[in-house]
Parts: sequence; structure tokens; C-alpha cells
Amino acid sequence: MDSGKPVLVSGVKPTGDLHIGNYFGAMRQQVELVKSGKYRPFIFVADYHALNSMQDAQEMRRRTRELAMAYLAIGLDPQEVTLFKQSDVPAHTELCWIFDTLTTMPYLMRAHAYKDAEAKNKEISVGIFNYPMLMAADILLYDAEVVPVGADQKQHIEYARDTAEKFNRTFATDVFKPPEPYILPEAAVVPGTDGQKMSKSYGNVIPLFGTRDELAKAVMSIVTDSSGERPENVYAIHKLVKGKKDLDGLYENNRGNYKALKEALIEDLDHFLAPMRARYEALEKDPGAVDDALARGREEARAVSGKKMEAVRRAIGVA
Ligand code: TYM
Repeated sequence: MDSGKPVLVSGVKPTGDLHIGNYFGAMRQQVELVKSGKYRPFIFVADYHALNSMQDAQEMRRRTRELAMAYLAIGLDPQEVTLFKQSDVPAHTELCWIFDTLTTMPYLMRAHAYKDAEAKNKEISVGIFNYPMLMAADILLYDAEVVPVGADQKQHIEYARDTAEKFNRTFATDVFKPPEPYILPEAAVVPGTDGQKMSKSYGNVIPLFGTRDELAKAVMSIVTDSSGERPENVYAIHKLVKGKKDLDGLYENNRGNYKALKEALIEDLDHFLAPMRARYEALEKDPGAVDDALARGREEARAVSGKKMEAVRRAIGVA
């Protein structure tokens, strides 16, 4: 099981239709890193994290499946990666509890997600408060060295690092390896149609598997500022799918013609996304492929995390 390669771990919550921010911010790099063959990769559907905001069994089932399909459609090969559902591997929640006992409330109160929710006077569940500890468990169970994520997750990885160090210090052990985030600078924050960070919760997304019409509708809604030389919000998304040289020529030739530039963006996005969309549609007709990938991933993830939990239990003195 131990390949000797550095371990890569990452996850996505199945909380909404995937958008190109998820893809260019994190999922694309994950696939590229897996394909490089340099890592031992574990990629999972963070369904227990999603439970904080999605409390509908049918939706949970459907979206979890869709996310697993999406991973296969964007190019993950289940022979090369352990692809699994977080809830299929009980070690995640077990380790989360152990971390809870070491972690103080003031420390968790510094988390951005918690502070934002509090600033908005939202009622915060214990699950949301504790989010960073479940995520620390996700990462540390596999000895991850590389965690490819968008910039918004950086603090969570710092929590995982701190927690690894605290555990090791408290129990005078070296059970856990502190991880590093892997954030691609140019895609660290993919902007949405309004120029803010693209986010399910801001309603400013461009769908990853949408039809051409849905793509067109989202692109046409991109907010443009008529004062500038170049529609920056259009350009920022365009540069994700087209090289700078081609792009600068296109924007120069169509200066001020925002409609033409948006139409070019629709064309380029559609061209880029169409093969993934086709693979997704093929997988919809082949449910066995997803089931097999997840069943295989479950066994592999359970084996690796189970071994780590034996070391954890010995370190804390319950075994
Ligand atoms: P989630 O589901 O919110 O987002 C999935 C990934 O997409 C990235 N992302 C973006 N990147 C750039 N620009 C954007 N506009 C944008 N929107 C989303 C996120 O940074 C993320 O990498 N807590 C995680 C899930 C998780 C996890 C883990 C990740 C749970 N356990 C362990 C890594 C390791 C989350 O909420 O991602």
C-alpha cells in the first residue's frame, strides 16, 4: 500500500452544482497532479462537511453521486486515485473527536468561516464551528503532504498543520505529518459573473456541466464596466481557457465591443468544457462505473486510515 510517494489529499463538498471556480481553483490541479504520477492521491466527496448545510437525504444522495461522476468526467482514473466518500470511512469522524478534545474554543473562534457567520448573526451549528477539525482529520489521516485547494481553504490547512503539531507535542509522538497547501496563484480566486469570488452562495457562478445555453446565459450576465478599456470581469474568466497572447489580440481587435467579447468567451468556454460534459453524460448512463470506483476507494481509504488510527489509539493510550 505504501508507494513511497508523497501523499496528496483533497475534497469537495457536494453542496451545489459544480462551477468553473471549483474546477479552475482546485479540481483541475488535482487531476493534473494525479496524472503527473508523482503522488499517492486520495480524493473524496466531503459529504459530512456538506451535512452542515444540506439536510435533505435525497439531495445528499444525488449530489454525492454527481460529484463522484464529475471527478471521473474531468479525468480522474479510479485506477490511479483513491476516490471515496468521506462518510464511508469512519476514521474521519473518530479522529475529529480526538482532535476536539485537544482544541480550544478560542482557537476555533478565529476561523474565517465562523467569524463571517457570526458577523452575519447566523445561528451556528457545532458542526460548522468544528469544521476545521473534521478537515484536519481528512488531511492528517493519510499523511498528506500536498493539499490542492483554492485560496479560501488556506486557513483550514493551517489548522490542520497546527493540530498535527499539537497532537505530536501533547503525546510526544510523530504520528502526524504537517501538510502544505497547494494553491495555484493565477487561479487562487476565480471571479464570478459579478467580479466577486465565484461561489455557490453568491449566485454568480458559471456552471461546469451546464448546457451551452446555460453557459451563454451566465456569460451574458457578466457585469461589465463601461469606463475601462477592457471588460475586466470577462477577461479574468477568459484567461482561464485561452493563452495570454491570443487573448490580448482578441481584446485589442474588439475594443469596446463587449458583446463580441462575451460571444467569444461563450465559444471558448464551450469548446473547453464540451468533452468533459460528454464524459459526464456517458457516466450518467453507466451508474456501475461510479459505484465501482467508490466501492474500491472505500476499501483503500479504510485500509490506510485504519492503520493510522491504530497508531493514534496507541499514542493516546486507548490501545
Ligand atoms: P468547497 O466544496 O467549498 O470547494 C471545493 C474547492 O473549490 C475551491 N473553490 C475555488 N477556488 C478558486 N476560486 C473560486 N471561486 C472557488 N470556489 C471554490 C475551494 O477552495 C476548494 O478547494 N472545506 C473544503 C472541502 C474539504 C477539503 C477537505 C478540501 C473538506 N475536507 C480536506 C481539502 C482537504 C470546501 O469547503 O471546499
